[in-house]
Amino acid sequence: MAEILRGDVIAAEIESELRGRIAQLAGRGVTPGLAVVLVGDDPASHVYVSRKQRAAARVGIVSVEHRLPGDTAQAELLALIAALNADPAIHGILVQLPLPPQIAADEVLDAIVPAKDVDGFHPVNVGRLSTGAGSGLVPCTPLGCMILLEKVVPDFRGLDAVVIGKSNIVGKPLALLLLERECTVTVTHIRTRGLPEIARRADILVAAAGSAGLVRGDWVKPGAVVIDVGINRIAGEDGKSRIVGDVAADECGHAGVLTPVPGGVGPMTIACLLRNTVDAAVRSAG
Ligand code: GUN
Repeated sequence: MAEILRGDVIAAEIESELRGRIAQLAGRGVTPGLAVVLVGDDPASHVYVSRKQRAAARVGIVSVEHRLPGDTAQAELLALIAALNADPAIHGILVQLPLPPQIAADEVLDAIVPAKDVDGFHPVNVGRLSTGAGSGLVPCTPLGCMILLEKVVPDFRGLDAVVIGKSNIVGKPLALLLLERECTVTVTHIRTRGLPEIARRADILVAAAGSAGLVRGDWVKPGAVVIDVGINRIAGEDGKSRIVGDVAADECGHAGVLTPVPGGVGPMTIACLLRNTVDAAVRSAG
C-alpha cells in the first residue's frame, strides 16, 4: 500500500516551530499581524478565510479581517490596501481570491507591497521565484507541496515531475520550485494531449486541476510520489456532500506515497501562510 503522507501532522509541526519564533519576536516587541481581505460572499472563500484566521490565532499571529460587500468598487479596495501597506502592525496582507468581476485582481495584487505579500502573488515575488532568487515570498500551496515532498524525496535531481494544472496559484509556481531542485518538469493542462501517458512517466505527480478523481490508478507509475492538491466538493451517495481530491485514491495503492484529501495539502497551505507572515514580520523587524 502507498504511504499516506499526512499534511495535517506536518502542518502541526510547523505551527509549533512558529510559536517558538513568535515568542522570540515578542521579546523584541513585535507581534506578527496578518490582514485578511474578503470581498463578497463566495461560500468556499468564507470557509478558507475562517480556517486561516483560526490557525493564525493558534500560533499567536494577530489577524484582522476586512469583509467588504460584493459590489465594492475597485478604488475602495485599493484604498484599503494602501492603508494596510502603511500600517506598521500589519506584516502580511492576504486578499482572498476570486474577486468579484468589477475588480481587476491583477491590479489589486500589484498594489500590495511585495514585503507584505504573504500569498507570493505580486509580480516582484513571482519574478524572484522565477529567477530562483530565494529572497521573495513563495505562494503557500506550492511551498506546502515542496515541504511535503522534502519529507519523502531524498534527492530531487533528475526526477521526472509532472504537474497537472497551470494556475498562477499552484501549477506555475510549483513547476518553478521543482525546476529549481533540478527536476525535469512537465506542466500539463486542459488542452494537453495524451495526459495519462505523460502522467505515467512521473516520479513526482502533482494533481492541481480542480477536477474530482481526474487522475486514475493507471495514470500513476508504481512507486510514484503523488501529491493531490484538489479540493472538490461532490455529492455523496448518502445525499451529503463531501470533499475529494483530484486523484482517485482508491485506485492508487501501487503509488509509493500519496497525500490524502482532506488532511493533505490543505493544512499545509495554511501553515505556509502563517510561516510567510512570520518571515515577513522577522524581516520587517530587521
Ligand atoms: N483562493 C484560492 N487559493 C488561494 C490562495 O492561496 N490565496 C488566496 N489569496 N486566495 C486563494
